[in-house]
Amino acid sequence: MVCSTTGKHAVSLGEPSETIPLVIEAREIVKVVGSAPEYAIPLLQEIQRRHRFLPQDLVEAVSQESQIPLSTLYGVATFYSQFRFKPQGTYLIRVCQGTACHVAGAELVAAVIRQELGIQAGETTVDQRFSLESVACLGCCSLAPVLMIGETIYAKLSVAKIKAVLKEYQGAAAAKETAHAGS
Ligand code: FES
Repeated sequence: MVCSTTGKHAVSLGEPSETIPLVIEAREIVKVVGSAPEYAIPLLQEIQRRHRFLPQDLVEAVSQESQIPLSTLYGVATFYSQFRFKPQGTYLIRVCQGTACHVAGAELVAAVIRQELGIQAGETTVDQRFSLESVACLGCCSLAPVLMIGETIYAKLSVAKIKAVLKEYQGAAAAKETAHAGS
């Protein structure tokens, strides 16, 4: 069950590469997104899309490349809650704490996830698989209680359903790690 939200990134470009040197990556980002001050948000979004957070050295390189002052980029980054300064897990779990979800048992949903993963909202698991966030509303109130993992909404949650979903993602993460180790 998929539901659109306002949290999607606005820019979608080429795939990230950990092997691209910093300056070249910064140049590539600026070249495709733009270098004028009004591109500060799309530039930051593209950095985050590639790395799932804003690495300081890359933000600095993009600042140099675009000639947008570093203070401007960080001013924008700290103003908008969509930007993160710490690495995010492979899967971002957003648990809705809006009114409809609260009434339908959002706290139980959050409690089960906290217990299963051993993290609080705002934290990432030690194995870097999951990050947990609380959000005000995911726009699917009639399906409460809901949570979102990546771009997928999971609705009308029960304890059993939450555990099954987490198990599914644990399996997917393990498979991804195995494939990465073998490549
Ligand atoms: S209150 Fe949870 S989706 Fe709106």
